[in-house]
Amino acid sequence: MRTQDTIYLKDYAASPYRIVSADLDFRITEADTRVRALLTIEPREDTAAGTPLVLDGNELTLGSIAIDGAPLVLSAYGADASGLTVFEPPLRRFVLETEVTLKPEGNTRLMGLYRSGGTWCTQCEAEGFRRITYYLDRPDNLALFKVRITAPLNVAPVLLSNGNLIDQGDAGEGMHFAVWEDPFPKPSYLFALVAGDLGSITDSFTTASGRKVALAIYCSHGKEDQCLWAMDSLKRSMAWDERRFGREYDLDIFNIVAVSDFNFGAMENKGLNIFNDKLVFAQPESATDADYDGIERVIAHEYFHNWTGNRITCRDWFQLCLKEGLTVYRDQEFTSDERSRPVKRISDVVGLRSGQFPEDGGPLAHPARPDQYSEINNFYTATVYEKGAEIVRMLATLLGEAGFRKGMDLYFERHDGQATTIEAFLAVFAEANDVDLEQFKTWYLQAGTPRLSVSDSYDGASQTYTLKLGQQTQPTPGQPTKQALVLPIKFGLIGPNGSEMSWTGVSGGTVRDDMIVLDTAEAEIRFTGVPNKPVPSLLRGFSAPVNMDTTLSQADQLFLAQHDSDPFNRWQALQDVGMALAVAAIGGTPWSQQAVTALSQAMAETLASETLDDAFKALALNLPAEAQISRTIGKDIDPDRVHMVRAALLKAVFTPLALQLLQTYRKLSSDAPYAPDAASTGRRALRNRLLGLLVSSDAAGAADLAAQQYAGARNMTDRLAALSVSALAWTPDAEALLAHFHTNFAATNPLVLDKWLAVTASVPQDMVIDRMRAVLADPNFPKTNPNRLRSLVGVFSMANPTQFARADGAGFRFVAETVVEIDSINPQVAARLLTGFRVWPMLEEERRAAAKTALLWLETSGSLSRNTADILTRMLA
Ligand code: ARG
Ligand code: ZN
Repeated sequence: MRTQDTIYLKDYAASPYRIVSADLDFRITEADTRVRALLTIEPREDTAAGTPLVLDGNELTLGSIAIDGAPLVLSAYGADASGLTVFEPPLRRFVLETEVTLKPEGNTRLMGLYRSGGTWCTQCEAEGFRRITYYLDRPDNLALFKVRITAPLNVAPVLLSNGNLIDQGDAGEGMHFAVWEDPFPKPSYLFALVAGDLGSITDSFTTASGRKVALAIYCSHGKEDQCLWAMDSLKRSMAWDERRFGREYDLDIFNIVAVSDFNFGAMENKGLNIFNDKLVFAQPESATDADYDGIERVIAHEYFHNWTGNRITCRDWFQLCLKEGLTVYRDQEFTSDERSRPVKRISDVVGLRSGQFPEDGGPLAHPARPDQYSEINNFYTATVYEKGAEIVRMLATLLGEAGFRKGMDLYFERHDGQATTIEAFLAVFAEANDVDLEQFKTWYLQAGTPRLSVSDSYDGASQTYTLKLGQQTQPTPGQPTKQALVLPIKFGLIGPNGSEMSWTGVSGGTVRDDMIVLDTAEAEIRFTGVPNKPVPSLLRGFSAPVNMDTTLSQADQLFLAQHDSDPFNRWQALQDVGMALAVAAIGGTPWSQQAVTALSQAMAETLASETLDDAFKALALNLPAEAQISRTIGKDIDPDRVHMVRAALLKAVFTPLALQLLQTYRKLSSDAPYAPDAASTGRRALRNRLLGLLVSSDAAGAADLAAQQYAGARNMTDRLAALSVSALAWTPDAEALLAHFHTNFAATNPLVLDKWLAVTASVPQDMVIDRMRAVLADPNFPKTNPNRLRSLVGVFSMANPTQFARADGAGFRFVAETVVEIDSINPQVAARLLTGFRVWPMLEEERRAAAKTALLWLETSGSLSRNTADILTRMLA
């Protein structure tokens, strides 16, 4: 394996030259694409004569090169596949002209210019633009772009790039052209081009200041009516950003293009967002509620990037969470405002715990702002995105809504048009609120999930309630010692009658209204004037991304589940009770009947509640996932045992409720046509949750009920739910349902095929690996398509813990072999698939050894891409 050159944040230096404008001319034909670039370049003031100009390039072949119209002699430059150096450029403004020829057809990495289903399209973030032309491919070079595209009219009637269309016409010989100009200077990673035969839907949005923006979503012909939800989401996003942050859209056009082959979700290219089509297409027969949610969220996310990412961008890629953490926070707030805030918070925390916490606690742990990388594409992670959003959320919690908004306003005012840093971001909040955020900054620099320990005592005589808090973060790769962080802990003290208690005095820590700010390793906070022993409700709304060890008794937890005014903590309390029972049983202490009955009753009451909404109930009526239980145990995990114990506990808790579950299930049935609104979505979520509980607790007739729901379903949400509960429990009908689904729904729709692949890969049965091998062996399986691969192999490694971590190593081998094969096609996808191994250090010995064998095999398997080698090196370190 080749060693990686590591890039360090401390080595950041501005480039000695700046590209101020880029005039690009693309000539696209079926055979190849010729790119002529006219780059206007200036030396920086302090650049010395004779300083070479070094441009990035990747797999490029230079055709011609000239400066100010004069071709360069061979000795004046050096060009190879990885870059172009002009040894002594003029020490004044000049125009560098280069010509390269690309082969988009063979570009299976899907970075740079490639073809997806016949359409030419681009992906440049992070370093794809250097696969299009030689350039300063770094986010701190902001340039004005003008793009001319010439292409065959018959295969590419639609020609798009960033900004405004300023010219178009016939180019002779069956070719036509379009010229686009973007008035906003931008880094190269925001460049985009699309050429293809596409359908579209159009609409418009009038901004608060009265500017009319033309909106369009482009897609393959025939899919237009599946883009309406995306368009609706876009318009709501535009209105929300005006309302909530005072941010208006700034161009006359906003285009979105859906493509089938895409390395991740979507991309915020200025004025021309490009999307994975699974995050655009929605119709009730083929998309689930989760898909509708995802579309709304990602459309919003990419749109919000226009201000947090595009108008203000990153100085270097170490600052990635400057735009991503902040923009995820913004999209989360959008969804909270559009739908249910508590339900959104619970779902996000479930996602954080299943996606980010394992990353932070495993071999791939890194700070939200890393200080080194060898392959930046491996840092588009849950830590940068989701923990990054949590950090912004804590900032908002600490400063309050008004204080946070003041900081955001100053951020936009001061940094508009700049490429900036986390330091600059924190500085505006510190300044606008006159606070010191030096210690808070550690959140960006320190990896690992802090553990928050709590114990309490009450002294009736002095009416004093004492909370002892402690925080500790385990070492992570490269960070042996950890500092105390600033933890905003929202809380309340609940009295015996279930209502909030007040206190008359506080000492020993920082308490502001309903928030404790813990910024030391330990604190002992004394509340005086507390008439009765309270039950503390801590970390309300999950106000800090930590693991909290609670010492509350089961009775106190269930009391909270019933009485807490904070819905998040009501949900959390039920989860904690289930977790405690599962963890104890796995450790050899079986649960008492009494404890299980108490949990059953609490679940029954939750389900019967007149005040809780369906979506909340759907989340509450569950036990923590297997992966979550494993993470809580933390070491020597036997996934089979976790699976077995959880299944047994589920049965014990929910079997007594079978009748109530069934009756509620029936009551929730509805003939109303499908609608994606919050209430309808919540109703379906609860109904399908109840079906899942009935089937997995093996209630009489439940398997048939699932088969009936499958057959009678009138939308994909209900159909897929029935299919997947049947498959996970492997009911007698499971096999037939899977086959039926494949023939009748998946065979003709690739996005539905993904659902079939994902269900197939999740089945916790020994045959799953053979089945997946058979799927991959089919010559028609498109190994160049990231969605298909992730649905099968990605889902297997992340969501099928018993089979992936089989003691005989077959699961590990399957993934490792697939990674090698895919690595030669698409390194980014291969590297991502490999990250599923991150659980390996916490497995029991035999499985750990099997995982290590697979990883070591991978190490010797030949030449791995930089992407995959980087993950592998860290995985084995
Ligand atoms: N900026 C895009 C987004 O957050 C994602 C780009 C991912 N790029 C990558 N190289 N992994 O919406
Ligand atoms: Zn983003």
